[in-house]
Amino acid sequence: MARNNAIATVNKKQKESRFLSFYKDPPVSMSQSSPRQNVHNKPFLTTLDGGASKKPPIWLMRQAGRYLPEYRAIRSQSKSFLDFCYTPALATEATLQPIRRFGFDAAILFSDILVVPDAFGQKVSFEVGEGPRLDPLTTPKAIEGLGEFSLAHLDPVFETIDRVKGALPTETAFIGFCGAPWTVASYMIAGQGTPDQAPARLFAYRHPAAFQLLIDKLVDASITYLARQFDAGVEAVQIFDSWAGVLPAAEFERWCLEPVARIISGLRVRNANARIIAFPRGAATHIPTFALRTGADGIGLDTAVDYRWAAQSIPPNVVLQGHLDPLVLISGGAAQNDAVREILGAYRDRPHIFNLGHGILPQTPIEHVEALMKQIRSSEV
Ligand code: CP3
Repeated sequence: MARNNAIATVNKKQKESRFLSFYKDPPVSMSQSSPRQNVHNKPFLTTLDGGASKKPPIWLMRQAGRYLPEYRAIRSQSKSFLDFCYTPALATEATLQPIRRFGFDAAILFSDILVVPDAFGQKVSFEVGEGPRLDPLTTPKAIEGLGEFSLAHLDPVFETIDRVKGALPTETAFIGFCGAPWTVASYMIAGQGTPDQAPARLFAYRHPAAFQLLIDKLVDASITYLARQFDAGVEAVQIFDSWAGVLPAAEFERWCLEPVARIISGLRVRNANARIIAFPRGAATHIPTFALRTGADGIGLDTAVDYRWAAQSIPPNVVLQGHLDPLVLISGGAAQNDAVREILGAYRDRPHIFNLGHGILPQTPIEHVEALMKQIRSSEV
């Protein structure tokens, strides 16, 4: 009840004006009036639009994947992970599996952030047990010589969206996604995952103009790609900036905040009602400014964020998503029960979408996800 009353009585405009001093340029979501039509019965969308709910909607990052036996069974039908992503029948099935098993409030398109470099013509592959491998872009010339972004290359992704949207239960929302320019660029430059994305950070210091060009190409491609995902049928998108946390403040502003803000405003030019969640993993104390200046509807919080701090420091008109430690979900038991209760309590007075602080891990026992669902569904915060 407390949650209902609190949310219903705080006037949205009042909340916004309290934070006006925070930012220089009003974010697009606040400066335009774009009332979304509530012609659906989808708790995830209601909450993302700022509505009240007795219990938070829930989905989990990487909810389709190797912890599910049914995923492992169909994954073995494709030799390469990218082939799997580009086979609409398989990608559709992978998207739907966690919905059937757990009844999450949102499905996330099954694909990968690295289909974008692939659509630029960069060679991308996934080695079992080693993660992604790309032909690294090591010189400014390589960036200048990058091919055109081919949206048509991603047609199988849009066909997957079309198939999934016809197969989802009416109460289940559908989320599309892309990687944020900094995170995608960091893989394009290093050619693989690294502990701290040092290759891309060094490249950006040494060749700022060429790095800016790469970021600009990714901003434009991301706008086109996400707009097309909406056209195909997704109802919200998430922008994954998984490596936002490795940058000093000035670089965070230039390579994470500004590009994501440009994607969001560009996308809203194409689709005024686009619902957008940004996930700046590791952004820590930059998060309130990031939320205000990008104008994202929702912010995905990572595992390390203190929920008491987040509840108080992030403007109340921003919907918070997260952020149970994926390792707690492996542990289960009392640790899981307590951690879930704490998160529910911390966000009881504001719109909250329950999620993990990063992707679900392959070792996660199915029963622990079932216990999580039971706890969330029986919660009344
Ligand atoms: O969330 C979902 O269920 C939708 C599908 C999804 C995948 N990757 C499937 C996947 C999403 C949203 C992603 C995003 C993604 N991909 C990110 C951002 C989120 C994050 O985790 O930080 C990043 C950085 C990538 C790049 C990537 N893809 C890496 C580093 C790896 C290897 C690590 C790993 O977990 O294996 C992948 C491969 C990948 N993407 C798998 C899945 C299910 C595993 C590959 C397999 O099943 O063979």
